[in-house]
Amino acid sequence: MEKDLSDYRKSYERNPLIREDLPENPMELFQKWFFEADEFEGMEEANAMSVSSIGLDGFPKTRIVLLKKFTWEGFIFYTNYMSEKGRAIAANPNLCLNLFWQGLERQIIIKGVAEKIAPNLSDGYFESRPDGSKLGAWASDQSQEIQSREDLDKKLMQLEKDYKNKEIPRPDFWGGYIVKPVSIEFWQGRPNRMHDRILYVLQETYEWKISRLHP
Ligand SMILES: Cc1cc2nc3c(=O)[nH]c(=O)nc-3n(C[C@H](O)[C@H](O)[C@H](O)COP(=O)(O)O)c2cc1C
Repeated sequence: MEKDLSDYRKSYERNPLIREDLPENPMELFQKWFFEADEFEGMEEANAMSVSSIGLDGFPKTRIVLLKKFTWEGFIFYTNYMSEKGRAIAANPNLCLNLFWQGLERQIIIKGVAEKIAPNLSDGYFESRPDGSKLGAWASDQSQEIQSREDLDKKLMQLEKDYKNKEIPRPDFWGGYIVKPVSIEFWQGRPNRMHDRILYVLQETYEWKISRLHP
């Protein structure tokens, strides 16, 4: 099989990234870009982001998760702590997050260090989820091999019976991570591949150094 994609070419014509307009703290720019993405016509799940970790097998692995909160401190997502990514993070908490908003011709690349959030914060978010999702968290030994789809459906049906009219607690193997950024790159597509790339790097003084990169 062969499919040549060399003719796939798009010109990026949107707004430039101007040094004078940049805030000192990249989280401010992240918030601005996130809101613009969220309001962009036709955008679905502006909060879908890729998370790359270094696996126990030594390979990087990237998967999509949903960004559920951002604060001055970092970026929070929820998952199974015993999943492949959970085990990878336990061994090496350095992650790379990427958000790509095609319509806006923008991507944001975040390098950061993951930490489990406090259990009460995970409880709070778990509590806000629909019962189906709560049981789904219990049913899934995320990333483990399963014999058949039927086994999974049976497990869920059993859980539905067990928890009928009962509070569903948060499994202790499920919760949030906060990724505290050490660098954030904002990429804005520009004509003729002369893209704007602005890199913020956290200094020991906790100030952010801002630089512009070649496209
Ligand atoms: C749009 C989308 C959103 C997802 N959101 C999450 C999420 O918030 N948390 C999560 O654990 N997995 C989420 N997943 C599934 C992950 O991509 C992945 O399959 C799962 O976390 C297992 O990854 P692992 O085996 O590398 O640990 C999502 C997948 C997609 C396509």
